[in-house]
Amino acid sequence: MADKAWDAVKARDFLSPTLSRKSILRKHVFEAVGPLPGKRVIEFGSGNGFWLREFQKKGAHCTGIDSSQDQIDLASSYNVDIKYIRHDASTYKAKGKFDVVYIDHVLSETASIGKVVKILKSARALLKKQGRLVINEMHPSVAHFPFDHQTEAGYFYFKSGASVSFRVKQVNGNSFPVRDFHWTLQDFSTSLNSAGFLIEKIIEPRASRASRDEYVKQRSHFPSHLIIKAILK
Ligand SMILES: C[S@@+](CC[C@H](N)C(=O)[O-])C[C@H]1O[C@@H](n2cnc3c(N)ncnc32)[C@H](O)[C@@H]1O
Repeated sequence: MADKAWDAVKARDFLSPTLSRKSILRKHVFEAVGPLPGKRVIEFGSGNGFWLREFQKKGAHCTGIDSSQDQIDLASSYNVDIKYIRHDASTYKAKGKFDVVYIDHVLSETASIGKVVKILKSARALLKKQGRLVINEMHPSVAHFPFDHQTEAGYFYFKSGASVSFRVKQVNGNSFPVRDFHWTLQDFSTSLNSAGFLIEKIIEPRASRASRDEYVKQRSHFPSHLIIKAILK
């Protein structure tokens, strides 16, 4: 979603959850994040606060960081006890430590690998010793699967930072345009390593073949997402 900053119109258009989120990702995100009651969770690029509201329902104390004031305003309009702060994740610092840092579709909006590493370093600085980082991004191979996408001229898998565009289907029937920066699996692993993390688990969520929705069914053959759970080195 790298083409345009998150203004009020774009933020509102993304309010309906994606089908993947509803039908594929949910249980894997909760598995990666772990038990939530009483835990301190911070999300980088918290958007409209969808995940933080889910985490809070399960008993977590939540903080959201986002660089877009429109997203902060939208998330804050849900009258729940979640703290939202407008800040760039790569330079965010806090006094207290967190049990979980959650990052969902933010690294793929980040135009340079140097900034990806900065965001991960700032996540590391916020985590308790036993804390965990959970990242959910589009799968790096998404442009190689039979999903409806467009790549920049001359795209090839190893072209880090290339632009890949596609549309994600939402629960309300709309499809939302996405333009991401492409990072390879190795980019993720190297960046995590240099920011001081060890990858504990990689999840490629698989949709149910029994789904009657073609969009979902297609994702039972190819993973649309990559979830990484990382711990401190
Ligand atoms: C694709 S949206 C995802 C929102 C949310 N994580 C979700 O999954 O619903 C990406 C969000 O990250 C924010 N963002 C992108 N880069 C950021 C950065 N460096 N620091 C803070 N927020 C950032 C954008 O403003 C946007 O709200």
